[in-house]
Amino acid sequence: MSNYKNVSKRFFLSLCFAYFVYAENAAPDFVNIMLNFEKEMNLIQEAFLKNSQTLVEVRQRRLKKLSNQLKEIPTSFYLDKKTRKFQNLIDLRVMRMDEELEAMGKALKRKDIDFAFQNYLNILNECNSCHILFHR
Ligand code: HEC
Repeated sequence: MSNYKNVSKRFFLSLCFAYFVYAENAAPDFVNIMLNFEKEMNLIQEAFLKNSQTLVEVRQRRLKKLSNQLKEIPTSFYLDKKTRKFQNLIDLRVMRMDEELEAMGKALKRKDIDFAFQNYLNILNECNSCHILFHR
């Protein structure tokens, strides 16, 4: 029995350690995702201004990848005492942004660049809506 306790204690400790390592790694990941979001959003804007379907497609794919990475980080990781009460709103921002990127991908497939541009504006709105929640 005490052997069993020992094993479960060890298991618990290694779980804590794993979580610690995970949290430590998620932090730089999160900032990197944000910095890359900014870079890709600037580049996709340029692509729209050039009216280049191909360049917009490249940036849409990069943004979608970043969005997938963001989805994998639980929002609870970057919430604190002040922002915890907005968790639902923040979860929604992550979801909406991903949906807009999905819709943009579909718009680009049917060569509807105007629709894709509207998706771009909606995504920009999601970036800002989320940041506002963190700056109170
Ligand atoms: C789910 C919420 C959320 C969404 C959506 C989001 N961000 Fe952020 N972003 C944050 C948080 C949290 C921070 C860091 C803390 C803060 O801003 O107070 C941040 C920080 C940043 C930073 C500063 C990074 C640094 O530390 O130098 C940039 C740039 C940025 N975001 C760009 C974007 C862009 C562009 C988008 C949209 C494509 C976006 N973010 C979408 C939550 C979000």
